Amino acid sequence: MSLRRLALAAFTLSAGVSVRAGTVQKAGLTVPSNYTSQLDTLKSIFNVTYSAYQQYACPHDELQPDSKVGIDDIMGWGATIVDALDTMWIMGFTDLFEQGVNQVSETNFNVTTDDGNLASVFDATIRYIGGLLSAYELSDQKYPVLLEKAKNIADNMAYAWVDGNAIPYNGIFLSNYSIQDGFTNVAQAGTLLLEWGTLTKYTKNDTYQKLAEEATLKLASLPAPIPGIPGQLLYPNGSNIDDLVTWGSGTDSYLEYLPKWARLSNTNDTTYADTWLMAVDSSIEALLKRSTVDNWLYLADYANKTIQHVSSHLACFHGGNWILGGKLLNNDTIVNYGLELVDACFNTYRSTTTGIGPESFAYISSDGNYTGSSDPITSNQTDFYNENGFYITNAAYYQRPEVLESNFYAWRATGDTKYLDNAVWAIEAFQKYLPASSLGGVGWACITDVMSTDSPQWNDQAAYFFAEVMKYLYLTFDDPNNISLDEYVFNTECHPFKAPPAKSQYGSGKVINMTN
Ligand SMILES: *[C@@H]1O[C@H](CO)[C@@H](O)[C@H](O)[C@H]1NC(C)=O
Ligand SMILES: *[C@@H]1O[C@H](CO)[C@@H](O)[C@H](O)[C@H]1NC(C)=O
Ligand SMILES: *[C@@H]1O[C@H](CO)[C@@H](O)[C@H](O)[C@H]1NC(C)=O
Ligand SMILES: *[C@@H]1O[C@H](CO)[C@@H](O)[C@H](O)[C@H]1NC(C)=O
Ligand SMILES: *[C@@H]1O[C@H](CO)[C@@H](O)[C@H](O)[C@H]1NC(C)=O
Ligand SMILES: *[C@@H]1O[C@H](CO)[C@@H](O)[C@H](O)[C@H]1NC(C)=O
Ligand SMILES: *[C@@H]1O[C@H](CO)[C@@H](O)[C@H](O)[C@H]1NC(C)=O
Ligand SMILES: *[C@@H]1O[C@H](CO)[C@@H](O)[C@H](O)[C@H]1NC(C)=O
Ligand SMILES: *[C@@H]1O[C@H](CO)[C@@H](O)[C@H](O)[C@H]1NC(C)=O
Ligand SMILES: *[C@@H]1O[C@H](CO)[C@@H](O)[C@H](O)[C@H]1NC(C)=O
Ligand SMILES: *[C@@H]1O[C@H](CO)[C@@H](O)[C@H](O)[C@H]1NC(C)=O
Ligand SMILES: *[C@@H]1O[C@H](CO)[C@@H](O)[C@H](O)[C@H]1NC(C)=O
Repeated sequence: MSLRRLALAAFTLSAGVSVRAGTVQKAGLTVPSNYTSQLDTLKSIFNVTYSAYQQYACPHDELQPDSKVGIDDIMGWGATIVDALDTMWIMGFTDLFEQGVNQVSETNFNVTTDDGNLASVFDATIRYIGGLLSAYELSDQKYPVLLEKAKNIADNMAYAWVDGNAIPYNGIFLSNYSIQDGFTNVAQAGTLLLEWGTLTKYTKNDTYQKLAEEATLKLASLPAPIPGIPGQLLYPNGSNIDDLVTWGSGTDSYLEYLPKWARLSNTNDTTYADTWLMAVDSSIEALLKRSTVDNWLYLADYANKTIQHVSSHLACFHGGNWILGGKLLNNDTIVNYGLELVDACFNTYRSTTTGIGPESFAYISSDGNYTGSSDPITSNQTDFYNENGFYITNAAYYQRPEVLESNFYAWRATGDTKYLDNAVWAIEAFQKYLPASSLGGVGWACITDVMSTDSPQWNDQAAYFFAEVMKYLYLTFDDPNNISLDEYVFNTECHPFKAPPAKSQYGSGKVINMTN
């Protein structure tokens, strides 16, 4: 089916077979004993890198000069402290955890380090509200200040909904509680529900959940170039700006949260799971591509009415998301595609000189090689493609988690130890290439070139490195009954929320048919 026809295709819901939700994790899963030493390795990496944060970047107000380990300190509230709290709890660093809670209690979340006191609703939600609430839950609600601060932040962010719009502006000036005018995107507007819903659960104030639900339902109702996936940029009044469809940055976590919210809330509204199934179904139809070399499976982008044969480290969350959603909907077709996506993403690690995957890449499939850029494929890229089934378009590694996140879902769902080997591979590569050379190895840096064993480094240690890379790796080797995927749902920053027992069915259970 041509894309144009697909875009115009009508979707019908027809009565289908009854589908029972499956468990996500493989029953009786254990980590073989020869892998459990990785837990100590990871604890020691956390210890070293977090103390570098304390030494060079704390107190958490300013970025350090380049000779120090910089910190991804969104809004100057100590993103690393908040992001790392649940990781500390899970790894058993209780002293650091309590110290972190004290620092949080002393932080004034009504001002930011930005001149105009500008805050991002998206960042405040996924890192701060998410991090505070998961730490609050994991520590059995013994630290009420964590809930109070999450509520404080959300009360400030709630000013982003104006003019009766279902969708919030993403920027809010805390100096005067007015919005920063401009457009937003699907991910910023659609990645609120797990956090704001959990806040409602603990505060009993329905407004938080309602605001987030209305934003997501509005996105789900917009006309979509690829059914189920709206164009990426839009104004809060719902006016759409472009036709970019991607599982990558700017749209990613909206799609991620659709099945996750269905699972975390057990809502009777089937829109979330049904919209996700529609997005997956049309992605299979329109975006799923196989490389002409080695037959790797990728999900292309679509923009300006054209398929773009590109992908990215950020997009690589999709494998784990399809495994999770496929399990919840009891749909092995989706789970199996998810597992193939995980393999293709991990191939980007296995193929580079450092053993670390690049920020973005492209590939050739039988229907073309358009990359969305006028740059021709260089002969080096062609050579690399012929060896590896993808070629690199941005060779940096920004301490991103998504490849290891999906690898974690694949491990817990299948019990295949090749995923444990993948995680060992990544740890060993990180240990070789990420220690910040300008600091004699304390603190871990980002590298600009995964194809060089002597890559230039940026002394920037991401908050999400502590929240996500460290936690997904640790949980990969931890007892699978700890933070089981059948009991917890992770927000997009890897903050786990406790879920109720699963329902017997997610979504309407009706098969969505594309007609044309
Ligand atoms: C653990 O043991 C298995 C089976 O003996 C082996 O295949 C695997 O490579 C080992 N892994 C590690 C990290 O030692
Ligand atoms: C963390 O590192 C410090 C030294 O910097 C050491 O004293 C401490 O025992 C380490 N803690 C753990 C749990 O590894
Ligand atoms: C993880 O599981 C192990 C073994 O069952 C247990 O000793 C440990 O306390 C658990 N950790 C957490 C954080 O639940
Ligand atoms: C709110 O504060 C910001 C930053 O100082 C400023 O740019 C904006 O004009 C103010 N908005 C209103 C409505 O006063
Ligand atoms: C901080 O913000 C919260 C939430 O909007 C508000 O309740 C509180 O009064 C503010 N505190 C100060 C000192 O402005
Ligand atoms: C619930 O939260 C909203 C958003 O911050 C706030 O406007 C409202 O006053 C709160 N309601 C109650 C009953 O506290
Ligand atoms: C939505 O907002 C944009 C930007 O302010 C504006 O250009 C557009 O006309 C508005 N659309 C509607 C339907 O009001
Ligand atoms: C869903 O509907 C059932 C039956 O009406 C009801 O018992 C349950 O509380 C509802 N669940 C939620 C999350 O609202
Ligand atoms: C399973 O997923 C595939 C791919 O999205 C879809 O075509 C099929 O209808 C789904 N099956 C059911 C029973 O929902
Ligand atoms: C679509 O085309 C417009 C105009 O040429 C360009 O500015 C924009 O970047 C393109 N969008 C994408 C996602 O490539
Ligand atoms: C890429 O596609 C163009 C046509 O769009 C074609 O001329 C070129 O040969 C292709 N390159 C490769 C390496 O397949
Ligand atoms: C192409 O590859 C060669 C050999 O690996 C390398 O020396 C050269 O710098 C590369 N050129 C570019 C533009 O990356």
